[in-house]
Amino acid sequence: MLKNDETFWVPTKTSNAACKSWGGSEGDLAKLRENSATRWKAIRHKLSRVGVPAPSGKIIEFGSGMGLLDDLLDDSCSCLVMVDHCDAYIRERARPLSARCRHVLWSPEGLARLHAEPPSYDWFISLAVFWHVEDPTAAALIRELGKLLKPGGHVLIHGWNSATPEKVREMSTQHRLFDTYPTYVLNLDLLRETLEPDYQELCRETILLYRKPEMETIGRRKSLSAMIPDFLRRRA
Ligand SMILES: C[S@@+](CC[C@H](N)C(=O)[O-])C[C@H]1O[C@@H](n2cnc3c(N)ncnc32)[C@H](O)[C@@H]1O
Repeated sequence: MLKNDETFWVPTKTSNAACKSWGGSEGDLAKLRENSATRWKAIRHKLSRVGVPAPSGKIIEFGSGMGLLDDLLDDSCSCLVMVDHCDAYIRERARPLSARCRHVLWSPEGLARLHAEPPSYDWFISLAVFWHVEDPTAAALIRELGKLLKPGGHVLIHGWNSATPEKVREMSTQHRLFDTYPTYVLNLDLLRETLEPDYQELCRETILLYRKPEMETIGRRKSLSAMIPDFLRRRA
């Protein structure tokens, strides 16, 4: 369980689930759907701009909330594993998840069961979660759930705060000193370096997109990187 789960992320009723999924929905399910559809359109647009096809195939999602991805993905052949630390959000859905979805509770045992599967997933997706995790947790989520990806698979993140002086200044108000709602900034350079050479960063505007290279490429990059002396690597 991520450290802030228990305190913040358990919804008690539909409006509360919608609110926790997206504060701007003001608890209105129709508004939440509309916001999510607009967000998904922007994500697809960005993917096509970087030449990557829309998510399909075997998908694992972290922080699936009310399972809105099931309503957004139009590829009927996809299958979706939705991971969240509780199923209270799913209970607040207007209709059940479709048969292509499997909801998995986030726990060390759940993760171990997923890891027992062969690395056969095409996508790891997380929407509106990375606002709420710091660098090591972001890297841990990508590294651990990324183990399920097959070579050539993609990691798609939407919703994070970039660690820029402007953003940090905006967030460093008195309110933060007394606020229990967790929000963090991500250092994208640090994250990229942490994930290399197992992931290649493809995009960091609108979406964070990484690709797991094919096996031979990883081996080649690892041996090349071992040949670069430390002092040169720091300067690069
Ligand atoms: C803001 S909601 C987004 C839900 C969904 N992805 C969407 O876009 O509608 C964050 C989701 O991540 C889950 N989650 C689990 N651990 C979390 C954590 N430490 N921080 C933020 N979200 C977490 C929550 O249960 C919740 O379902």
